[in-house]
Amino acid sequence: MNQGKRVGIIGAGNVGATVAYSLAVRGSCHEIILRDNKIDIAKGKALDMSQAASAVRSHTVVTVAEDMSELTNCDVVVVTAGSPRMPGMSRDDLLMVNAHITKEVVRGVAKYSPNAVIIMVSNPLDAMTYVALKESGFNRSKVIGMAGVLDSSRMAAFIQEKLGYGGGQIRASVMGGHGDDMVPLPRYSTVAGVPLTDLLSEEEIVEVVTRTRHGGAEIVNYLKNASAYYAPAKSTSIMVEAILKDTKQIYPCAVALDGEYGYEDIVSGVPTMLGSNGAEKIIEITLDEKEKQMFSKSCASVSRLIDTLNQNNFFKENSTK
Ligand code: LAC
Repeated sequence: MNQGKRVGIIGAGNVGATVAYSLAVRGSCHEIILRDNKIDIAKGKALDMSQAASAVRSHTVVTVAEDMSELTNCDVVVVTAGSPRMPGMSRDDLLMVNAHITKEVVRGVAKYSPNAVIIMVSNPLDAMTYVALKESGFNRSKVIGMAGVLDSSRMAAFIQEKLGYGGGQIRASVMGGHGDDMVPLPRYSTVAGVPLTDLLSEEEIVEVVTRTRHGGAEIVNYLKNASAYYAPAKSTSIMVEAILKDTKQIYPCAVALDGEYGYEDIVSGVPTMLGSNGAEKIIEITLDEKEKQMFSKSCASVSRLIDTLNQNNFFKENSTK
């Protein structure tokens, strides 16, 4: 019997709940299971979303796992759990806190949904995807970080704003890690097939690139104590749907490199074909010297975070708490 597709979402905060809502109202899967330490909040949101799904005549039901052991047999598990940066916390503090949460969570996923594709959303994104890969023991095709879809959507929106036209026809391309060193690629960005470099001046392109790199911070500055979540959640749900529907479409995703682009044992954002087996193919596009340098700088930033984890013996610890 076909039991239908199940999607687990760990962390029912702004991003996790919005991913669930988006999938529920589109009827993208049979069941969505929310897992959050705040069980009552998760239950309230699950009921609310099931009712929204019902309103749009979607068959999707949203339930709550009170314990990780109830998150069984998921096809895809989205991990948004993590601590936001608090005043006085260093970047490394956030790294260690979220690495421990990620470790705990993905070990549970590996145990109860061993065939799932994991989509990591928690920050720092590339390092957390690396942690999820190591701690789940999954094949690298089954652990994918969401960042490039978001960053390229932001770049496309900024191009549209700059041009004043072309909305919906813009394909922006961003590679590298999800940080200030990300690598927007104007040469590989088009508006209805027209290269961006034929439509904007060099100066305007620099402005778009700079704004893209700081796209997350621009929104935090307005929201104050929260990060963006509509675009991050929509970007995540697009990846979930590509995997559930086995579309074989190409999206920029954070994946472990194993020789591609000349790197290994690191996670970075690259064009990736998504299907039911996860990241089924990594596409290697030709980069010029300047783009290669930017990609190298971005990989070095991620390496530093992984080094910090190693220096703290993170991967040698068995128990997390
Ligand atoms: C952003 C954060 C959430 O880019 O990474 O909005």
